[in-house]
Amino acid sequence: MRITARLIVALAIAATLVAAGSTFFQARQEKRGLLDDLNRRGEILSQTFGDLVQSALESGSRRRLEDVVKKYGSHGRLNGIAVFNAEDKPLAFTPALSGEIAALEQTVKRALAQQSPADAVLGSPDGDFHAYVTPLAPNRGLVGALAVVHDASYIKVRIDELWKNNFLRLLIEVFIISLVTLWIVRWNIMSPLDDLTDWMRKTRAGEPAAAPPLPKGLQPLAAEASFLAESLAEARAVAEEEAHLRHKAASLWTAERLKEHVKATLEGRPIFVVANREPYMHVRKGGKVEVLTPASGLVTGIEPILLACGGVWVAHGAGDADQESADAHGRIAVPPESPQYTLRRVWLTKEEEEGYYYGFANEGLWPLCHIAYTRPQFKASDWNYYQVANQKFADALIEEMAGVREPCVLIQDYHFALLPKLIKKKRPDARVALFWHIPWPNPEAFAVCPWQREILEGMIAADIVGFHIQFHCNNFLETVDRTMECRIDWERFAVRRGGHSAGVRPYPISVAFPNPVAAKPNPGAAELLRREGLKAEFMGIGIDRIDYTKGLLERFSGIERFLEKYPQYRGRFTFVQIAAPSRTRIKRYRDLQEELESEAKRINAKFAAKDYAAIVLMASHHNHADIEPYYKAANLCMVTSLHDGMNLVAKEFIASRDEENGVLILSRFTGASRELRDALIVNPYDFEQTADAIARAIEMSPEEQTARMVAMRAMVREHNVYAWAARLIDGLAQIRLSPSQEFKA
Ligand code: G6P
Repeated sequence: MRITARLIVALAIAATLVAAGSTFFQARQEKRGLLDDLNRRGEILSQTFGDLVQSALESGSRRRLEDVVKKYGSHGRLNGIAVFNAEDKPLAFTPALSGEIAALEQTVKRALAQQSPADAVLGSPDGDFHAYVTPLAPNRGLVGALAVVHDASYIKVRIDELWKNNFLRLLIEVFIISLVTLWIVRWNIMSPLDDLTDWMRKTRAGEPAAAPPLPKGLQPLAAEASFLAESLAEARAVAEEEAHLRHKAASLWTAERLKEHVKATLEGRPIFVVANREPYMHVRKGGKVEVLTPASGLVTGIEPILLACGGVWVAHGAGDADQESADAHGRIAVPPESPQYTLRRVWLTKEEEEGYYYGFANEGLWPLCHIAYTRPQFKASDWNYYQVANQKFADALIEEMAGVREPCVLIQDYHFALLPKLIKKKRPDARVALFWHIPWPNPEAFAVCPWQREILEGMIAADIVGFHIQFHCNNFLETVDRTMECRIDWERFAVRRGGHSAGVRPYPISVAFPNPVAAKPNPGAAELLRREGLKAEFMGIGIDRIDYTKGLLERFSGIERFLEKYPQYRGRFTFVQIAAPSRTRIKRYRDLQEELESEAKRINAKFAAKDYAAIVLMASHHNHADIEPYYKAANLCMVTSLHDGMNLVAKEFIASRDEENGVLILSRFTGASRELRDALIVNPYDFEQTADAIARAIEMSPEEQTARMVAMRAMVREHNVYAWAARLIDGLAQIRLSPSQEFKA
């Protein structure tokens, strides 16, 4: 039975029970009232005729008695009266009572016996009648009894009518209740539930549909259903990705696969990573300690490996609340919300940080390796601090590696050119890879570094020296060849010196794929721009540290040229530049930030319109979760580095685009441009080309966008950061240590 029918039957039964109960009591009350009325009338009439009848009885004259009976027996609504002697025998009665006299006997007897009035409703063939019997002269010796008889058949008629009327009313009530119930159930429950069912069916079938509006009482159900739908969508995405992975099981790497692989390869030993930049920085903000994830391609690339495999990350504790958050050895388990590996912080003095990090690394090696036309500066004091800092990191690492046989060490970047040699000196059994995340220039360019020999010596002590692309490996080998006494094995791409061999290979770094934060909802470009008080049809994004190598000013010029050359897009295209301030103690970086701000202002003034800005410059730190909605919502992403080892923003953008649309505009001077061939490749110095690429991206058909995006996603999926780590660790594990390098506990 349907729920509505069941509800109606239940309500009808309840209404019937209530109506029957109340009619029963009503009928009882009515009957009692009518009887009381008859009793009262009987009593009054008995008193009225009683004395006359009694004196007629006492006179002994039968005739007189019959006269009295005759005279009063037809009074008003009476059926009649009857007189009995003290032995309850009828003496005289109204003729109309002849059929009822016998039935009166019991009541008369009762009245005589109790010497007080008795009454009863009695039946006769003509219908019910009521008798009120009064004993006569009970105090002076009983002489007989007087019965006053009324018709009582109307009581039954009245009660029957009452039942009939109430039943009719009940029928009408049940009918109305059914109608109202039907209406309430239909409009307030069944119809919203039908909509909800329809929506859930569509969701299950994978058709996108908006959840229907539901009445207040059903909203918790709607919330639960939405939650279920979201979980279903996520599970479906994961299942699709897993199916995809299974399909390509032989070539695809996941966090799980890497974990198992590393466990087997290193026989359960931890991995040691050394990188200047720490993945979690504790900083003080308004009296509270906050955890920051620094903007760094290196962190993006390395963190997923440690999350998958565990181990130790040795880094500079640069946050102003780092020391108080770590233990006495500078150790802290991270990520703070669910620890999976150890961060070992190294403390540097202000001078050391100034000389090693800002000075030698970022004013010397950084501009030296990037062809971005910023002149490197080399100071002897900076070089000294660079050596001191490298030694400090080496000491910390050696402490961490104590007791671990043949530890696997992954050194990151240009901050640690001297570290391989320092480690090998203390731990010849360590398997050391140095990965250089930035480009390596040609030998002439590198030769301007006064300490190039020491730097190269430090580097080639590693077992593997890695770059993103073959071109940089070749530059490095040529630089070593021209600078030092050693043998270059061009066939195996290795440097041999004093019995040690360092393999020099390309390992193009990547990002985690599937993207761990990609499942979050996409608010869309209109909403993101609305938050800035703007409106535009198309949104481009750029996400960078504020660094002169990133080609940010060139990007802005390209956008300006685009709006000049394609005026139809003025007021319709907004470019959002998320720019994390970086290395701001260096003047060149501070100047750049100012220049960017004034350029954005100038360009915005040039194309000013209501609710519109050509460029939104967000010059502050943003974490991954903040950035993800921009990656997902943008029509295009611009990476216009003047020179870049790889550039992981390009790959992050690709990994985020699970709807397989959007266009990447990518500088030809990035390592990423070697792999992401379906991006629109530009020369960032050529503003005309950049402007045309923006127009082409906006006008590209959805089919072409998808075809390009699918190809690039397949590339990033296959060559993700887990694949990168697996290759690097495999390379290290395969190295044959000479007897002199074996572990001595
Ligand atoms: C580049 C370097 C990284 C560095 C990152 C951020 O990607 O290759 O080593 O971590 O920039 O720079 P920062 O100086 O802030 O660490």
